[in-house]
Amino acid sequence: MNAISTDPSTYQGLRPVQLSADGRALRLLDQTRLPIEEVWVELRELEPIAHAIETLTVRGAPAIGCAAAYGLYVLSLAFPDDPEAFQAAFDAAAVRLANTRPTAVNLFVAIEQQRGALAKARAQQPAVDGAGLRQALREEATRHVEDDLRFCLEMGAHGASCLPAGGILTHCNTGALATSGHGTALGVIRSAHASGTELHVFVDETRPLLQGSRLTAWELMHDGIPCSLLCDNMAGALMARGEIQAAIVGADRITANGDAANKIGTYTVAVLCKHHGIPFYVAAPWTTIDMSLASGAAIPIEERKPEEVRRHGGNLRAPADVPVRNPAFDVTPAELITGIITERGVFAPGELAAQAQG
Ligand code: MRU
Repeated sequence: MNAISTDPSTYQGLRPVQLSADGRALRLLDQTRLPIEEVWVELRELEPIAHAIETLTVRGAPAIGCAAAYGLYVLSLAFPDDPEAFQAAFDAAAVRLANTRPTAVNLFVAIEQQRGALAKARAQQPAVDGAGLRQALREEATRHVEDDLRFCLEMGAHGASCLPAGGILTHCNTGALATSGHGTALGVIRSAHASGTELHVFVDETRPLLQGSRLTAWELMHDGIPCSLLCDNMAGALMARGEIQAAIVGADRITANGDAANKIGTYTVAVLCKHHGIPFYVAAPWTTIDMSLASGAAIPIEERKPEEVRRHGGNLRAPADVPVRNPAFDVTPAELITGIITERGVFAPGELAAQAQG
């Protein structure tokens, strides 16, 4: 068995968020159609890009950030050349993209990085024109996307030894599809498997939108990593029978005290782990850590449409007008988290604030 290299230039896996070959469109693997069919879409305009984020054509916190970074560059190809008018068009596009999904902080990090790249170009080159501003956005987007791949590979290297042999539970999709490549929690699983740890991945299906069964199971089967699919209500029974040795999930936003928002159902997994004495890890790049929020209570939680819960696989599975709750994320308190795996190393939740300053 060979450990996976942390050098992004050697990475051969899936890159779900790209620039098109002509560099003029955002190219996405449509995650709403997996695993039935692999369809790539190319988007050039604001509404289709915003819609792709809202409808989960692209999803997963780091991948959303990458889509916004490339998206702002692609949109800038139609911005006016005058720097003031260019800035106004950028600001309007940034507001629309920022209003797509509220929970994953990576989206806002990517937008602010692009805003900063524009401000820097304008400050350093007072006579900069539209071409110069577009170039600044393209370079910053490329840096963001390539950094994310590197962070994922480094998380894999830091986190692989956290996972014991045996049953590993994961929730939602945190793989290559959710990132620039390799994945966060699923990246750690990939790296542990490659380095020889004999693990069997238990995949929560992740209702209502089935990111576990549609996407995580697809990635694991593609890589030949042993796995079994579970309905979301089965993990406790398997833990009680000693079949699960650790759980690992991703995060959409981690606050200064180490609380972590992730796909709805993650908190339930963490409580089950606590009851059964099973380690519970969160893997996320530093771009997912929001030091401006003191605790998870301040994280905005996206509420999605009732139809996602009333229907299963497109078919109505409830009275058509039954009231529904559909929070897309929950918050796992720091006290339930064994360790947070980042590209900088593995930390106890309470160590994040000091690490951010150091
Ligand atoms: O609604 P989604 O599919 O975007 O939710 C994704 C998750 O909750 C992931 O676990 C999280 O973004 C971490 S992905 C590396």
